[in-house]
Order: sequence, then structure tokens, then C-alpha cells
Amino acid sequence: MENTINRTLCKNCGICAEVCPNKVIAKNGSVHFRQEREHLCLQCGQCMAVCPSKAIKVIGLSYENDFREIPRKKADYENFMQILSSRRSVRNFKNRPVSEELIDEIVGSVSYAPFGAAPEKMEISIINNRKTIESALPLISDFFNGIEKMIENPIASGFLRLMTSKEDFHTLKNHIYPIAKGGNYKIENGDGITRGAPTIITIHAPKDAEAHTNNGVIYATYIMLAAHAIGLGATMIECVIPAINRNKKLKRIFQIPDNNEAIMSIVVGYPKYKYKRTIKRNKHKINKV
Ligand SMILES: Cc1cc2nc3c(=O)[nH]c(=O)nc-3n(C[C@H](O)[C@H](O)[C@H](O)COP(=O)(O)O)c2cc1C
Repeated sequence: MENTINRTLCKNCGICAEVCPNKVIAKNGSVHFRQEREHLCLQCGQCMAVCPSKAIKVIGLSYENDFREIPRKKADYENFMQILSSRRSVRNFKNRPVSEELIDEIVGSVSYAPFGAAPEKMEISIINNRKTIESALPLISDFFNGIEKMIENPIASGFLRLMTSKEDFHTLKNHIYPIAKGGNYKIENGDGITRGAPTIITIHAPKDAEAHTNNGVIYATYIMLAAHAIGLGATMIECVIPAINRNKKLKRIFQIPDNNEAIMSIVVGYPKYKYKRTIKRNKHKINKV
């Protein structure tokens, strides 16, 4: 099996060669795959998506199964901004389960996401059952109790610093610890972790998978926005991630193989309240040259 170009269909326009991110296709004379560069093909499908005459066949992709015509009516900027600006992180849910069809729809949005590398190594686990989520809460809560104790003990805190990246340590110390100390994650205070959501979706991948952290956050963003676009509420719940990754029982509940690491979870459900206005934040710095 190899990537091929159908000579009868190909008009030799060469657009495929121009869009190929890794110059796997060349146009000198006739358009062709460059054998010596075919190992650089990402199977991103850009060449097949742009070809006016469906002349290209990339290994593992077919026009019938993997491509869809783009609707003529383009989503314009205002519609897009309306979706972005009306989204909120929803943490209050109705006591109503979400159908599998809707979950499949929002998770389906990931099929259109960009990826850094190796999308085939990405995995998504869905718990669409409140009872199962509840069985995980005491274990997650215990993890936060442990973090509280570690941060408060200078020796344990130093050890934690050595065992985690600077980013993770600062997130635990400056963000998670004060919230844990405030009692949010204590099971006796109710569910301040998954917020009573009927569904939690977790993105994970093998620990050594290429670009998996960035891929995972992008996938989670797509899922969150897709949920909002169809009237569901969603929130990224990163705080569960270190707990899942350090506890085999939690990995089992979240259906994450031992060799994988969780990247991001998203809780999903029907929003209990309707937000009347959006928040426009300008906290980030923009540096123009
Ligand atoms: C990377 C990331 C991790 C987050 N983790 C949590 C979390 O663990 N728990 C939570 O309640 N919200 C979490 N959130 C939601 C943020 O708190 C929320 O986006 C922020 O409060 C702003 O509110 P908005 O999304 O309504 O604009 C997370 C958001 C992001 C982007």
C-alpha cells in the first residue's frame, strides 16, 4: 500500500503540493508523491481535502469514510463569537442524564481538531453514569487531603517540588491548595469536584505519545464548545487529573489503562441556570512587534 494519485482524475494543478505541511508531494512535471519523503506524511488529509477532482489516495484515508463536503453557508465571525462569548463554565446541573447520542455528538467534534502528532494514540473515556462518578469522589477527595498535608510540611513540600514540574507544583501550591484548604474538595461539603454532573469525559493517551498534552487540551476545548453549542453545559475539570494519574483505582473507574496518563476531564450536563451576560476578560498580555 502506498499513497497514490489517480492520473486520469488529476488536473496537475499542484495545490496539494502547496498545502502539504511536509512537502511530501511535489509538482515538477506531474504532481507526485516523493517516495523519499513519504515517511513524513502525517495523514492529515489536507491534500485530499483540497484536491478539486478527488484524485488523491492517502493510506488509511478514503473520500467515502473520512471526508465531508463543507456546507456552502460559512459560519461567519459574528456567529462564531456569539458561541464563544456566550459560553460559561457550568457548575450547576439539572438532575437529568445526557443521552448517549448527544455525548457522541459533542465528542464527535474532536474529529475536526488539529493535532500536533499521533492523533491515533489519543483516547477518550466517557463516564455517563452519576453513580460511577460518585464512586470516584472519595478517592479524589483523599488525594486533595494528602496534597494539603504535603504542602503544609516543608520536607514533603520540597519532595513534591522535586517530583513535579515547576508548572504543576505552582498549580498545586498556589491554586489547588488554597481551594482544598477552603474545604471545596471535602466530600462532607458536597461535590465540589464534579459538581453533581451526570457525565465526565476524560482525554488520555500513552505517557510517551507524541504531543499528547497539547492534543488533549485542544480536544477538551472542542468538546466543551460543542457541548455549549448544542445547549449543554460543560466545564474543564483539571483538578481531577493529578488524582487520577496517581491512583490505580481511579484509573480503573475512569477506564484509563495503567500506561496512559489523563490530560483533561470535562464535566457535562444540562445547565440549571441561564447566564444573562458574558464576561470579557483582558487579563492576557499582547505583545506587538
Ligand atoms: C485548563 C483549565 C482547567 C480548569 N480546571 C477547573 C477545575 O478543576 N475545576 C473547576 O471548577 N473549573 C476549572 N476550570 C474552569 C475555570 O475555572 C473557568 O474557565 C474560569 O473560572 C473562567 O470561567 P468561564 O469559563 O465561565 O469563563 C478550568 C479551566 C481551564 C481552562
